[in-house]
Amino acid sequence: MIRIAVLLSGRGSNFTAIDDAIRRGALDAEIVCVISNRPEAPGIETARDRQHHAHVVDHRTFSSRQAHEEEVLRILDTARPDFIVLAGYMRLLSPSFVARYPHRILNIHPSLLPSFPGVDAQAQAVAHGVKVSGCTVHFVDEHLDAGPIIAQRPVEVRDDDTAETLAARILVEEHAAYVHALGLLARSPFRVVGRRVVFGE
Ligand code: GRF
Repeated sequence: MIRIAVLLSGRGSNFTAIDDAIRRGALDAEIVCVISNRPEAPGIETARDRQHHAHVVDHRTFSSRQAHEEEVLRILDTARPDFIVLAGYMRLLSPSFVARYPHRILNIHPSLLPSFPGVDAQAQAVAHGVKVSGCTVHFVDEHLDAGPIIAQRPVEVRDDDTAETLAARILVEEHAAYVHALGLLARSPFRVVGRRVVFGE
């Protein structure tokens, strides 16, 4: 059983998919808190509806990035998660935040990294004309969309795809990939060798 904290900023469909997997017994985990930096995020409403410990830490009400992160860290330290899951969390974490939880913060990105980091990854994929894109679950390091990769899933890019249609098909795979990656972390020890995440003794 792993303890998971979720950070989100919006819709929260990845959070919901993880919570659904836990509820149906497909993932041996417990969500110990959900934190949103946006009070209006639908995801935090879902967290409340589902009786999770839901916290809004609105970054606009803090004087600095550091002050905002300190409050998020205070909540996390109390919740004692094994892993922190970024699920559409639209804030960059500072290096000192990441250093507090080395190889314990996960992110999902809607492309096959290292292709198309940053915003609008699905639009970047369509514009570039790649035939395959997908999604990546990775550990967060101090660089954007760059940490060691835990799991990836491919998605075919169709000739008539728009960023929106591709994003919708990638999202389905994101939900499965996040549950799969957390399942790996729940079931087996891992080590990070160079950039590689290796599971097993
Ligand atoms: C997903 O596409 C994820 O890859 C990206 O932000 C989006 C979040 O969607 N990081 P949701 O809030 O989980 O529905």
